[in-house]
Amino acid sequence: MNLPNLLEAKKRNKDKVIKEFYKVNINAKGIGIGKSYYVKTYGCQMNEHDTENIKAMLEEVGFSEVDDYEKADLVILNTCSIRENAHNKAFGMLGRLKHLKESNPNLVIGLCGCMAQEEKVVDEILKKYSFVNFVFGTHNINRLSDLLLENFNTGNQVIEVFSSEGNIIEDMPVKRQNSYKAYVNIIYGCDKFCTYCIVPFTRGKQRSRQPQDIIDEVKSLVNEGYKEVTLLGQNVNAYGKDLDIDYTMEDLLNDVSKTKIERIRFVTSHPWDFTDEMIDVIAKNKNIMPYIHLPVQSGSNRILKLMGRRYTKEEYLTLFHKIRERIPNCSISTDIIVGFPNETEEDFNETLSLVNECKFDNAFSFIYSPREGTAAAKLKDDITLEEKEQRLYTLNDTLNKYFLESNQKMLNKIVDVLVEGKNEKGKLFGYTDTNKLINFAGDENLIGNIIKVKVIEAKTWSLDGEIYE
Ligand code: SAH
Ligand code: SF4
Ligand code: F3S
Repeated sequence: MNLPNLLEAKKRNKDKVIKEFYKVNINAKGIGIGKSYYVKTYGCQMNEHDTENIKAMLEEVGFSEVDDYEKADLVILNTCSIRENAHNKAFGMLGRLKHLKESNPNLVIGLCGCMAQEEKVVDEILKKYSFVNFVFGTHNINRLSDLLLENFNTGNQVIEVFSSEGNIIEDMPVKRQNSYKAYVNIIYGCDKFCTYCIVPFTRGKQRSRQPQDIIDEVKSLVNEGYKEVTLLGQNVNAYGKDLDIDYTMEDLLNDVSKTKIERIRFVTSHPWDFTDEMIDVIAKNKNIMPYIHLPVQSGSNRILKLMGRRYTKEEYLTLFHKIRERIPNCSISTDIIVGFPNETEEDFNETLSLVNECKFDNAFSFIYSPREGTAAAKLKDDITLEEKEQRLYTLNDTLNKYFLESNQKMLNKIVDVLVEGKNEKGKLFGYTDTNKLINFAGDENLIGNIIKVKVIEAKTWSLDGEIYE
């Protein structure tokens, strides 16, 4: 048994990260034949992409996917630790699985993802959730076939979580959930240690993939017919900083742009590492989409400092306006946390004034949730939950006004849309280059193509359009 330890996970070693190649355990081949699986995913795109690897590994040993967990022989929860409610959702699901297992004792249950990296969670599983068959962390997803085999052979609960990251694993199998858009990892982990955030503990130190591995993956996606890639990392702008070669995010964007992929997106960008050169590369290359997710978190310098974000409100605004100037049609979205410990009314008003200045095209807003082991969790907090909820409500009201305004600016414009599918009302839907959701009538055979659509109606969360050509 290998148990997690958050204090260990905090350490950053100087060990050189090299790459290894994925290998399935030969003896596990066939253990899933005739059996079905269901994977439930919580959290960010990183987790969604991990799930794509997990599904492919399960199919490699014979399992087949079902779309209802109640019909599955194996259920895996790929969990998220970012806020308390993500925790609660996963534990709620474990409660439902417990009932299911009472009527179906052969049900196999696994838990992985960021929560598996927390010792408190694993302790609780050991004490109260003995019906969970296996647990693995974010650093050893590639060992799934070994762990399954061990559980199948011994019948014992198998727990293998490493607190420290290992090497980068290349050639992981992948079952992509979309046939036109693909996620491509470029950098794992995070070294920023924003004081509220658990990610640097659950995902380990910053490790960039080799540029050639990324470019080769994008090229093969092009050959498979993919139109769009999203380059993934907790802080993509730090890409390359840990490599031995002199190669940065600008270089990577330039090189990926030279492949024949039609659309390139990237998330998430930390404002601190956003260089002028990066702005130029995005402005210059037509297949790099004019959309940037640039989390600000707060508009108060006092709170930004307590959050350890390493920029001031003024620096953020300078960067923001520079992007808007040099990439004129660029849409910019953000993340904001309200109710950080002892955030005053004045601090909150500064966040509102920043929102009023930036008029974000889209945003995600959250109430601060203390995460055990992080620096902010030690801060005392006098602000009531009611007050925090009121702030979130006020913030969302302001944000929504600007989402609508941003969408209204699109009225009568002709936009490029990658058609992704049909919605429940029978209309086609897709995203504009600026990442706006648009619905329009059209033929199903357009799915998978990039077409021109005229915007005819603007709502807060989406656009309506009609095919232009
Ligand atoms: N790496 C990304 C974001 C990762 S988490 C970045 O730095 O931008 C996504 C968002 O969740 C964060 O931007 C932040 O707004 C929010 N978040 C992270 N930890 C949180 C916490 N403890 N409580 C509330 N929101 C949190
Ligand atoms: Fe968390 Fe900050 Fe890293 Fe983003 S940059 S993952 S918020 S520590
Ligand atoms: Fe959640 Fe882990 Fe992603 S904590 S947001 S799943 S990196």
